[in-house]
Amino acid sequence: MSKKILVTGGTGYIGSHTVVELQESGYEVLVVDNLSNSSIEVLDSIEKITGIKPYFEQFDLADQKKTDDFFQRNSGIEAIIHFAASKAVGESVEKPLLYYRNNLVTMMNLLECQIKYGVRNIVFSSSCTVYGQPNKLPVTEETPRKDAESPYGNTKRVNEDILHDTIFANPQLCGIALRYFNPVGAHPSALIGELPLGVPQNLVPFITQTAAGIREELKVFGDDYDTPDGSAIRDYIHVVDLAKAHVVAIKRLLNGDNKKNYEVFNLGTGNGVSVLEMVKGFEKATGVKLNYKIVGRRAGDIEKIWADTTFANQELGWKAEKNLEETLSSAWKWEKHVRGIK
Ligand code: NAD
Ligand code: WQD
Repeated sequence: MSKKILVTGGTGYIGSHTVVELQESGYEVLVVDNLSNSSIEVLDSIEKITGIKPYFEQFDLADQKKTDDFFQRNSGIEAIIHFAASKAVGESVEKPLLYYRNNLVTMMNLLECQIKYGVRNIVFSSSCTVYGQPNKLPVTEETPRKDAESPYGNTKRVNEDILHDTIFANPQLCGIALRYFNPVGAHPSALIGELPLGVPQNLVPFITQTAAGIREELKVFGDDYDTPDGSAIRDYIHVVDLAKAHVVAIKRLLNGDNKKNYEVFNLGTGNGVSVLEMVKGFEKATGVKLNYKIVGRRAGDIEKIWADTTFANQELGWKAEKNLEETLSSAWKWEKHVRGIK
């Protein structure tokens, strides 16, 4: 009998890739999503990849009654992977209450249901944004968290504390917080990827839309940072490598291999790549010349961050495998699929 895993936000970018990896690892996946930032067609794409259409319910996890009702009707859930959240940094600055309500209330509703219905395990989507601009690089899990630059980043830090403190008070629970660095790319089938809704805030979707002629030019936000080429550095990780890490984290919890009831892991490649290196890397990987212009820094941006992945490598036995060329090619293949470009 396959073990049942609830994936909240499972029609979203990272969630859909994780559903694929879970199904391909033999898990039975249930998806809950309110489709506020994804579309129901993603379920058909998942089925095209794995042959299995996941069980799906559409509702707002910030609705306590609907969330409780879901758990009342769906017994036997062994673990939750909690992706569902609002994630646009800029929007969170304009609408802080929407972000605090959505991201914190969904977390609290799920934890209350875990306690009430005996769902022991949860994997939580956190973010390297909790580190702010670290003083020392690469960043380990012991690097002190800082006040985030945005309400969104704050919800990640506060949710880590909510999870930690709830587990401390309810030691039957076990949780893993995964701090993602910069997820990019798409499934090699190009059937799932990051949905292009509105003007992309993130670098890679903006690069691929510029390459597709949808955007006039890419603006490179700053070349006066204290980095080799002056542009900012990040740790870009292929979304499929990230998805595989969630399967490993679930296995760790279900097998009881976790050393503590609350664990945190950095999920990055361990390599820092600059914006200009991403531009050059995309041109090399795809043969498409990018139209870009250097402009001033973007408010709120940090200068440089990349992960020390030793703990995840050793404890999870997981390591990012895909290189930058493969990652950028997959992003371009997805863009061409979405735009019907040959
Ligand atoms: P996404 O927006 O593609 O996926 C989130 C999904 O959650 C969407 O399908 C959305 O419809 C759903 N959702 C949001 N609020 C909901 C609610 N109240 N009830 C039910 N469903 C709800 O985002 P993503 O990039 O896949 O991110 C997934 C998680 O990873 C988020 O928690 C995000 O904060 C975190 N994360 C993302 C990144 C990144 O760069 N993409 C980096 C670090 C952390
Ligand atoms: C990467 C680099 C930009 C766009 C954000 C969130 C973080 C997480 C991941 C949710 C930066 C530069 C970008 C552009 C550019 N999301 N850039 N031109 O800011 O590292 O992280 O997404 O958890 O919380 O903060 O990612 O892709 O926006 O930017 O020059 O048009 O690319 O300045 O240096 P970021 P990003």
